Amino acid sequence: MTDLYAVFGNPINHSKSPHIHRHFAEQTGQDMTYTKQQVAPGEFDQAATEFFDKGGKGLNITVPFKLDAYSFAARLTPRARRAGAVNTLALQTDGTVLGDNTDGIGMIHDMHNLGWELRGKRVLILGAGGAVRGILQPLLEQEPQEVAIVNRTHHKAEQLANGFHDLGDVRALTLEALAGQQFDILINGTSASLHGELPPLPDDLLAPGACCYDMMYSAEPTVFLQWAQTHGAAAVADGLGMLIGQAAEAFYLWRQIRPEVVPVITAMRRQMTEKNQNHK
Ligand code: ATR
Repeated sequence: MTDLYAVFGNPINHSKSPHIHRHFAEQTGQDMTYTKQQVAPGEFDQAATEFFDKGGKGLNITVPFKLDAYSFAARLTPRARRAGAVNTLALQTDGTVLGDNTDGIGMIHDMHNLGWELRGKRVLILGAGGAVRGILQPLLEQEPQEVAIVNRTHHKAEQLANGFHDLGDVRALTLEALAGQQFDILINGTSASLHGELPPLPDDLLAPGACCYDMMYSAEPTVFLQWAQTHGAAAVADGLGMLIGQAAEAFYLWRQIRPEVVPVITAMRRQMTEKNQNHK
């Protein structure tokens, strides 16, 4: 019988997840369907219960329901517990629903695919919201030398650093304290680039050979990646690979098969670029 999966969110129209999982299913020969469902605010539990009652095997969860999914799950993986949010629900053989968070590991795998080394590196993260919380555990597991977090609202960076300091050297820095410091890896986890904005960064923030990663993605380089390119970054990447990477890890949780991500990233990048050119 064909296994049923879906992504829940609001809005959900532009979700690329069905497309990505179709690629994965074809590539690995899995008999499954994957649909998208817009869920009304306050109706997550009901919609998820109905989905599993009718035989659904797994869900991806996107904005604004990752906290609802966290509460809904009967059990949580350690990384989901740390993230405080769930992006993947998986029906277990005993009938319970497991909650996981694959966003962080999706980003780490993307960096591996890009050939970026994290071990021993000085990492700076911009932002201290839910997206950043989701990546901290997998990032610290890579044993960077240090992880600094800088955020417009400083106390949120401090709270995050305090919540993860048992996993490695992670600290909050003020924007002013960045002066004179250099980092090997910069990660933009703010939603600022959605609005074409960027926190004010010192000009000499990047160490020689530095790599810059934006968790957001778009057809054209984000303002953060434009800044990186004009300030000496050796490599830049946006979050398309992270999106596809988190999907691959969800697929693995559901199907115990890890799909190839690189051909999917290449195909989707090409589609995005073509679409963008047609709109010009
Ligand atoms: P998400 O779940 O996507 O992380 P969030 O929890 O609302 O969303 O967090 C958004 C992050 O982007 C926060 O770190 C936010 O900074 P504040 O904590 O000070 O609000 C950051 N952010 C959003 N717009 C920004 C801007 N224009 N300049 C700098 N930081 C910005």
